[in-house]
Amino acid sequence: MTAVLTVEGLSKTFDMHALGDKRVVGLDDVSFAVRRGEFLAVVGESGSGKSSLLKCLYRTYDPTDGSARYHPEDVDLATCDDRTVMALRDSAVGYTSQFLDEIPRVPAVDVVSRPLRERGTDPEAARERARELLDALGLPEELWDAYPATFSGGERQRVNLAQALAPEPDLLLLDEPTSALDPETRAAAVDLLSTATGEQTTVIGVFHDREVVESVADRVAVLDGGRLQRVVPVAEFSGEVVA
Ligand SMILES: Nc1ncnc2c1ncn2[C@@H]1O[C@H](COP(=O)(O)OP(=O)(O)OP(=O)(O)O)[C@@H](O)[C@H]1O
Ligand SMILES: [Mg+2]
Repeated sequence: MTAVLTVEGLSKTFDMHALGDKRVVGLDDVSFAVRRGEFLAVVGESGSGKSSLLKCLYRTYDPTDGSARYHPEDVDLATCDDRTVMALRDSAVGYTSQFLDEIPRVPAVDVVSRPLRERGTDPEAARERARELLDALGLPEELWDAYPATFSGGERQRVNLAQALAPEPDLLLLDEPTSALDPETRAAAVDLLSTATGEQTTVIGVFHDREVVESVADRVAVLDGGRLQRVVPVAEFSGEVVA
């Protein structure tokens, strides 16, 4: 396997000074590798460390220990300096957070096309691509030029996902990107995830919905209490009896 990302001993502890220096474990000695084009689903109970893992890779959190070597750029995502983090976010690594970010007073189509415009894509071509993505995600056309600040949770989530997909990042980190969607819209998002993330795009995605995992993932990483329990092919995960 030619790994695109090799994670070794990745850990994150939180020192809660307000709680008498109590330590909370977010992620504990997690190691795995993903190959180019692979779709790795991350599952586990609430509080098991799924978001912490993605945040350590995107560097919303500074990991306490361990490494995450991103081979195409030969950098360690866990320890590289902030300038490198910013450059990688511009060029290679995309992320959607679990909770819907504050969105500025900008029309949805411009929120989605901004990453493309910032990369020098012709503004009208960038907007066209944004409309295609919003259309594929089933966002009603009358909302494309409206402000996402007034959108429902599911509508915002689609704007977030479209924004992450638009620049076609090489490594895409998705934290529950379909959690707020109804079944029909979720199916559209799953279709888009399957088609928009081709051979070049590596995805690490957190999902709660077993059906979604089974339709998008190549392998499944199971977290429990911050520790990686196992990484299994999706067929094996599908065969497991759900407790
Ligand atoms: N910024 C933080 N400060 C303190 N503790 C944190 C912080 N972020 C996460 N934690 C703790 O780390 C543990 C893992 O949290 P995390 O958000 O990664 O879980 P999760 O698997 O994403 O859960 P959920 O399914 O509810 O989103 C939890 O005990 C949580 O309280
Ligand atoms: Mg989470």
